[in-house]
Amino acid sequence: MTVHQVKVALGERSYSVLVGHGAINQIDNFVPKLAKRALVVTQKNIPIQPTLKIESTTVFIGDTEEHKSLTTIEMLAQKFAEFGLTRNDVVIGVGGGMVTDVAGFAAASWHRGTSVVHVATSLVGMVDASVGGKTGVNIASGKNLVGAFWQPLGVICDLDALETLTQREMRCGLGEVAKYHFLTGDDLLALEMPARIARCVEIKANIVSADERESGGRALLNYGHTLAHALERSSNFMMAHGEAVAVGMIFAAHVAHSMKRISQARVDEHYRVIGETYGLKVKPDEIINRRELIGLMHLDKKAVSGLTFVLDGPSGIEVVSGVSEMHLEQAFDAMRLNEK
Ligand code: GLY
Repeated sequence: MTVHQVKVALGERSYSVLVGHGAINQIDNFVPKLAKRALVVTQKNIPIQPTLKIESTTVFIGDTEEHKSLTTIEMLAQKFAEFGLTRNDVVIGVGGGMVTDVAGFAAASWHRGTSVVHVATSLVGMVDASVGGKTGVNIASGKNLVGAFWQPLGVICDLDALETLTQREMRCGLGEVAKYHFLTGDDLLALEMPARIARCVEIKANIVSADERESGGRALLNYGHTLAHALERSSNFMMAHGEAVAVGMIFAAHVAHSMKRISQARVDEHYRVIGETYGLKVKPDEIINRRELIGLMHLDKKAVSGLTFVLDGPSGIEVVSGVSEMHLEQAFDAMRLNEK
């Protein structure tokens, strides 16, 4: 079966992302020659696991967002020590975005940097989280506030893993795919699944290659994410990331319209693409608390100069700082999102 290969070009840190059914069987290509041991970080119920030629052990982490924590990193570091993992060895993260973020950060900090390979098993993980080297965990003050840029040696997106995903998990991934639609205008749903995922990875790879550490264009990957992160936190992570990104892009369109950056027709296009083409919810199910969400949006990592959003506009999607709360209120009104 065809396995697509997408390159993330980052000089000496360049690597490939393999996308296809059975791609996990190629994992040995990514294991460093000097590695004697591999420690697999995963969760219970992950449907695929690698078979490795070197000595390996598996450590399971919890599967809810509260386990994306410094406590889990400490637990992993202890396991690395007990297993005798050296800097020549390799950590392999097998799971969705939470697993690859945690495994990547544990590897980044173990002996100040140990190799990591990711096997993404969710659609969100494949099209976003596992590619690009962002790793990290949450603290009480916010999501992903502690972390490191740590590029993997390679990424595997094995489509066999998607066969057991729930419809909700697939929809979550589609939230990120819809984001790439707005960033490029590509009709991604016209592609078969392997080619669609490979194209999403390629779009992300191009953005990351141009701006690895998010000093510019990489921030565009956060389209819809300012409200999304706030919604995830205020719902105590009952709202999943991709669902929140879908609503966040609708909100961002309304904010952009309120700032006279885009027309009502472009807002309508967001509803059509996100709600109809991708079949995603355009509003949260729960009643929201605007003040709480606005407070959380002020804490966003992009917000170095007032409220900061990634917004559509006459020159395309770009980062806009110093957005006034009035525009957020107008966006909430337009979406008919009420106070608690
Ligand atoms: N998930 C956004 C990024 O990797 O930059």
